Amino acid sequence: MAFKLDAIEKMNTEDKYRYMNMLLTAQLSSEEDLLANLSNASAIVNVAFDRINWVGFYLMKNRELVLGPFQGRPACNRIKYGCGVCGTAVKERRVIRVENVHEFEGHIACDSASNSEIVIPIIVNDEVFGVLDIDSPEFNRFLELEEGYLIKFVDKLKESIIVNSLK
Ligand code: SME
Repeated sequence: MAFKLDAIEKMNTEDKYRYMNMLLTAQLSSEEDLLANLSNASAIVNVAFDRINWVGFYLMKNRELVLGPFQGRPACNRIKYGCGVCGTAVKERRVIRVENVHEFEGHIACDSASNSEIVIPIIVNDEVFGVLDIDSPEFNRFLELEEGYLIKFVDKLKESIIVNSLK
């Protein structure tokens, strides 16, 4: 499948996020492999979101988050349950938006350029499957608007994880 990306740079912010979710739908309807889907999902967020320096997945393995497909600088391999923004999002099973990561106790700094962050847990069949984590060099980069579109994005991923796990 070839992605049409030329138009995205000229779009306004909300159209970019809508297009992001359309691109993910196209990806998921043409491929069932989890690694391929998460890899392109991270690349799709990376083209739709400006002013970010890292986007990727951490996947739950034995009560620990392990680095998955991502875009950006090399990052920490493992995050313990309840640690950092990611581990806290897993423990509390909720989206966490951090306006200023330097004020978040226990924040794990993988890239010193990061100033704000959003983490969306991926909960499948009532268990945390992993998280989508995005970092920005800008303070307070992630607002309700971003959260709303990213929740839709993760919901689509969840559907495909469930459907493909049944095959
Ligand atoms: N900042 C995250 C760690 C992962 S990196 O941002 C890629 C955290 O505190 O959990």
